[in-house]
Amino acid sequence: MRLDKCLANSGYGSRSEVKLLIKSGQVSIGETIIRDPGTDVQESEYDLLRIDGHPAIVKTRVILMMHKPEGFITAMEDDRLPTIADLIPEKWKKSKLFPVGRLDRDTTGLLLLTNDGILGHRLTGPRWGVWKTYRVDTIGKMFSEQDIAEFASGLSLADGAVCRPAKLELLSETQADLTIHEGKYHQVKRMMLGTGRRVTKLHRWRIGPIILDQGLEPGQCRELTIEEIATVYKAVKLNPGHKEKGD
Ligand code: URA
Repeated sequence: MRLDKCLANSGYGSRSEVKLLIKSGQVSIGETIIRDPGTDVQESEYDLLRIDGHPAIVKTRVILMMHKPEGFITAMEDDRLPTIADLIPEKWKKSKLFPVGRLDRDTTGLLLLTNDGILGHRLTGPRWGVWKTYRVDTIGKMFSEQDIAEFASGLSLADGAVCRPAKLELLSETQADLTIHEGKYHQVKRMMLGTGRRVTKLHRWRIGPIILDQGLEPGQCRELTIEEIATVYKAVKLNPGHKEKGD
């Protein structure tokens, strides 16, 4: 990666700020001062990068939270339909991000994107049991207290699949928060259909410890904060500094 990009991605300033830093002779690889911002730096050289003689901390992993709007499919490319890749700001377009799990085209809310394969795998895999919470609006049978026990006991879906116990919190007779820790195909919609109602609106607002930032408009993204990064790795018992092939 280009040196200026590598430092900007790692939080050492904007692209133009780090260019100035490099041109002023403050950046070295080992003992060699580098003055060309376009110098290609290999991953094997990250440990040798110094700013003013101090080791630089190079950040290569990215985790974004996106407020997914309706009408976008959770894929990185599609011939016909707009995808969530269209919403990734330019500065992260080359970070090799992929979505963690998927939301239907008409579902809104929290979507995480990362380039950390192991993290993505653990956040979606049933083994790690990361809870996801959806705000569900329905028509059909009204919610009642009985539904709480039914969802908690593990619903059977129309195709015979049995869901793990889920937590239903009633907000009104037609609205609830549903927390599940698996990701079967169209799971929430099928759970609602199986109990006599149809989803009219579906919005995910929580994945494990991460809550959708209320300040993000539909279509916007931001990087997770340092605190959020620590909690998300902790939720899946992964060391943030892990090597790509696992701990
Ligand atoms: N369950 C669904 O039915 N749809 C989603 O988008 C997510 C969970």
